[in-house]
This record gives sequence, C-alpha cells and structure tokens, in this order.
Amino acid sequence: MAQYDVIIIGAGPGGYVCAIRCAQLGLKTAVVEGRETLGGTCLNVGCIPSKALLHATHSLHEAQTHFAEMGLGGKAPSVNWKQMQAYKQNTVDQNTRGIEFLFGKNKVDWLKGWASIPAPGRVKVGSETHAAGSIVIATGSAPAPLPGVEVDEKVIVTSTGALSLPKIPRSMVVIGAGVIGLELGSVYARLGSEVTVIEYLDRITPGLDGELAKALIRSLKKQGMKFVLGAAVQETEALKTKAKLTYRLRKDESEHRIDADVILLATGRRPFTEGLGLEQLGLALTERGQIVTDEHWRTSIPGIHAIGDVIEGPMLAHKAEDEGMAVAEVIAGRTGHVNYGVIPSVIYTAPEVASVGQTEEQLKAGGRTFRVGRFPFMGNARAKAMFAGEGFVKILADAETDRILGAHVIGPNAGEIIHEICVAMEFGASAEDIALTCHAHPTVSEAMREAALACGDGAIHA
Ligand code: NAI
Repeated sequence: MAQYDVIIIGAGPGGYVCAIRCAQLGLKTAVVEGRETLGGTCLNVGCIPSKALLHATHSLHEAQTHFAEMGLGGKAPSVNWKQMQAYKQNTVDQNTRGIEFLFGKNKVDWLKGWASIPAPGRVKVGSETHAAGSIVIATGSAPAPLPGVEVDEKVIVTSTGALSLPKIPRSMVVIGAGVIGLELGSVYARLGSEVTVIEYLDRITPGLDGELAKALIRSLKKQGMKFVLGAAVQETEALKTKAKLTYRLRKDESEHRIDADVILLATGRRPFTEGLGLEQLGLALTERGQIVTDEHWRTSIPGIHAIGDVIEGPMLAHKAEDEGMAVAEVIAGRTGHVNYGVIPSVIYTAPEVASVGQTEEQLKAGGRTFRVGRFPFMGNARAKAMFAGEGFVKILADAETDRILGAHVIGPNAGEIIHEICVAMEFGASAEDIALTCHAHPTVSEAMREAALACGDGAIHA
C-alpha cells in the first residue's frame, strides 16, 4: 500500500493547485483523476474552451463590424467551424499538458482512475488502496438536471455538448440567463445562430448588481439575442433534427412553444460527489448536497478536507484555487486564509462584466450608507479608440470612511481591470486612494480612477 501525506481527489483548478502547493511545502502528494487529462471541468469543458470560442467569435464580430471603419479591407472572414474547434482543442491541450508538466516538476503522482474513500485515511483507485495522512475532496460540480428536460448532449445539451456541436445551429434556445447561458449564447449569436434565452426570473444574471444586469441585457439584445423573462420551462422534447420546448409565462400562466436546432440547459450546477462513498462514511452534507466544512476546510470527519464547487460558496475556479492553496497550508501546519469578501466574478461576454465586493442592492438591504462613483467608458479615450465606449464603471464606497465596499464594471477588459479594486479592497483602501494613484494614459484603467474621483469631488472627463 502506497503511503502519502496527502491525496487529493480531483485535478480541477482546486485540486491541482492544492497538489502543487502541498508538494512545494514538502508533503508527499498524489492526485486521483479519472479523466484522460488533468484540469477538470474548467480546462477540459468549461472556462478554457469557452474562452477560445469567445475569442474567436469576438474577433469575427470585430472584423464584421469595425474593420472597414479602421481602413482594413479585403474579404470578410468566413467561419471554418472544424478549424475553430481544432483551435479550441489545441488551447485546451496546451493547458492540460502544462499541468502534467507541473506535476512532474513538483513530483506530484497522478493516480489515474475514479476514487472512493473506503475509510478515513484510505483512498481506493481501481483495485488499489492507498494510505493518506490527509485527504482533500476537490471533485467539483456537474450540470444540475431540470425536471422535464432530458439531456442527450446532441440536441438537448449542457455546456459540455454546446462546446462541441457538430455544426453551428441555425437556432438555439438557452434555458437560464446565468453565466453559462449568456457566454455560450453570445458565442452562437455571433456565429449567426438565432438565440433565444428563456429565464425564470424577471431579470438576467441573479446576484449581479441590478444596474449592470440591465445594461448587459440591453447590449445583448442589440447584438440580436432574444430574451423571454419570467418564464418557467415545462418540458423539452428532442424531435428528429431539432427540439421543442414549452414554457409558461409566470405573469399570465399562458403556455408557449418554441422550436430550435439545439437547446442548451444552463440552470446551474450541483456538487459532484457520486461514487466517493460519502454516505457509508457518514460525511455531513448540506441540504443541497454540498460537503459541510469549517473555516479550515475540514469536513465532519477528521483528516478529510473539501474545497471548491463541492462546498458552499460561489462555483468559481479561482475561488477553488485559493481554497486549494489555503488548505495545503493548513495541512502543512501553517495558516491558510481565503478572503471571501474579495472574490471577483467575471462574465466573459462582450461587453465583459466584472464585479467584486457588495452590490448596491446588498448594501441597501444591509442598511449601509454609501456613495456611488460612476464613470462611462464613453469618457475614456482608449475605449473609444477600441469601439468599446459602451458600459461604465461603478465604485461603491462607505459614506463615512470612503472605504471601497464594491466595484462593478461593464465594458472593455472588465475582467482585467477589476483586480485593481481587488487589491485595493484587500488593503482596506478608500476610493480616494485609487483617485490619488497615477494611472497610465491612455488606458481603460483610467475609467476606474475616474469612478473613484466620482466618489469624491467629481470625475474629470464626465
Ligand atoms: P447560474 O446560476 O449562473 O444561472 C442559472 C440561471 O438559470 C439563473 O438565471 C436562474 O434564474 C435560471 N433558471 C433556473 N431554473 C430555471 C428554469 N427552470 N427555467 C428558466 N431559467 C431557470 O448557472 P450557470 O450559468 O448554469 O452556471 C453554473 C455555475 O458555473 C455558476 O455557479 C457559475 O458562476 C459558474 N460559471 C462561471 C463562469 C464564469 O465565472 N465566467 C462561467 C461559467 C460557469
């Protein structure tokens, strides 16, 4: 029986980062992963392949809409779907191989197969049982099923199927106006599919600051996406070459039918713990099937930790990574910490959306008095040169102390420039601290400074 200090189950962003950190801290480490490649959902069928398709289709959109104005002529690009898929796969392969390289470099063993935990301190992979001082469960999540919707990954698909459709559908119905639905919906809209998003609530992207959600739906509608809000999906049916979906409008209970070449189910994900043997172990779960953990990611059974999508909190790769590093520190006898108040979230549509900290709605509900500093990208020279003047930055600062409580951006490079505020919040900075920091000109980051100035005596270019 092989003996390890730590065995991590799952090689997604939580698990593989945890493994590398454990090894760096001198622990004998193995990772169990049943997929053919490392990287989990994020690298194989999530964040990374979707970003390749988002980049390719955004480039297409740029060529179709702005090249002529910039004096760039020639034939308009045509879409070779097979090649776009190959580019996407190549992007994935480079990254999954990169993790394999990092495992080799850090002497992390990859135990290939699906793991179960027959007893505390034991991990079974195939017919072999390994001993571990500590076990970390990092098995991630899977698409949550929706009653009445039977996924076949051909005509009725989850994000996994949607990333690898054999051809570009003429029409697509997306169930759920959350992150996956909007990101993948906008990919196919840019490729020419007629995309209709059916959403149960009366708004898109629940949890996102309301002002941004409104700006985002306005922009996506302008790009040709259609939205049916306040609609409860009843059922779907795969027909010969297409699928049909029925939904009921909540406002008047009227029932409607919509047909499409492809239906994408994107109504959330659930923790993935099948096959681990958690019931036999008696490991405590929440009502929603998440593994219960304490502030050190310890489960109800000593020696077993859990991180990432299988526990509570936002289902985000970078949240899992942070927990992976922190739990490694804890296992090595050091202090591990994650600041859950400063976890950015990004929606990779165009325009991009990024948020950190509290929303206006949350601050109001908490009875907090705060100031809002807004700045539109139309006042930012760099954004205008990039045809990206749509959108704005909004900084929320405490009315008394000026401490930054949240920031919300819709516009160019939102997912990059949000980190300035993450760092500021980590250091407990005020809006004035950002306003007094010199920002290079011309950059889109200047919009962040202008929003900070707007929290005080006023922005210059608005
Ligand atoms: P989500 O939770 O973001 O959105 C689901 C949407 O479906 C919500 O708007 C919800 O109101 C709606 N919905 C639920 N039931 C419905 C029904 N019966 N009919 C119509 N609409 C319904 O879930 P999503 O987009 O599937 O993403 C899953 C997880 O993956 C999320 O936690 C998300 O944060 C994460 N993710 C993050 C990404 C990023 O950070 N860029 C990218 C992709 C996924």
